[in-house]
Amino acid sequence: MIKVAPSILSANPANLMDDINKVQGADYLHVDVMDGSFVPNLSYGLNTVEGLAKSTNIKLDVHLMIQNPENYVEKFVKAGASIVGVHVESTQHIARAIQIIKNAGAQAEVVINPGTPLTALEELLPEVDQVLIMSVNPGFGGQKFLETSISKVKRLSALRQARGLEFDIEIDGGIGEQNVRAVYDAGVDVAVAGSYVFDAEDYSKQVQTLKDLTK
Ligand code: DX5
Ligand code: ZN
Repeated sequence: MIKVAPSILSANPANLMDDINKVQGADYLHVDVMDGSFVPNLSYGLNTVEGLAKSTNIKLDVHLMIQNPENYVEKFVKAGASIVGVHVESTQHIARAIQIIKNAGAQAEVVINPGTPLTALEELLPEVDQVLIMSVNPGFGGQKFLETSISKVKRLSALRQARGLEFDIEIDGGIGEQNVRAVYDAGVDVAVAGSYVFDAEDYSKQVQTLKDLTK
């Protein structure tokens, strides 16, 4: 069964905890952090992560879409992130960013954009707990799933097996009932779902549907 990480980018920011309390069955809460430079949008930051960590027991899966994340990762771990994701495209020092996350006591995740080949993160695979494959160009919720992501996940999953590694594969962007089975079969362990969960009436039912489809 797939793990589900609802993305609060699609929740109501003025009533965040109300929305979060309505979601049953989430394995993680996905928190998107954007700096208006790495991606053309702004979103949540350190203080939101800190507030959420005090208000919910769900593990926080923090996706950093910021330039030079190595300058901030330790602060996000201290704020209460369980998993911190850093983009290979966002820094010249991705290995250092990963090292800092692990030394600070959180799980480290490397993230790649749709246009970046898998070779960009091959050297990092033994160092990370999770790899996030972006299945949309990052910056906004509610975009269309890019089908090429499936072959990328399959190749990453084959690489994981061939090298005897144990990181989880997460996918982010355009996930819903139409493609969750396909990404699960390709090797995905964790599905981020923003608009699919929070644009619906019954958030918990949406999470359960994704799980039921991957039984
Ligand atoms: C996009 C974000 C996603 C976003 C996904 O840059 O990283 O986490 O919230 O939203 P949906 O599931 O609506 O594509
Ligand atoms: Zn995200």
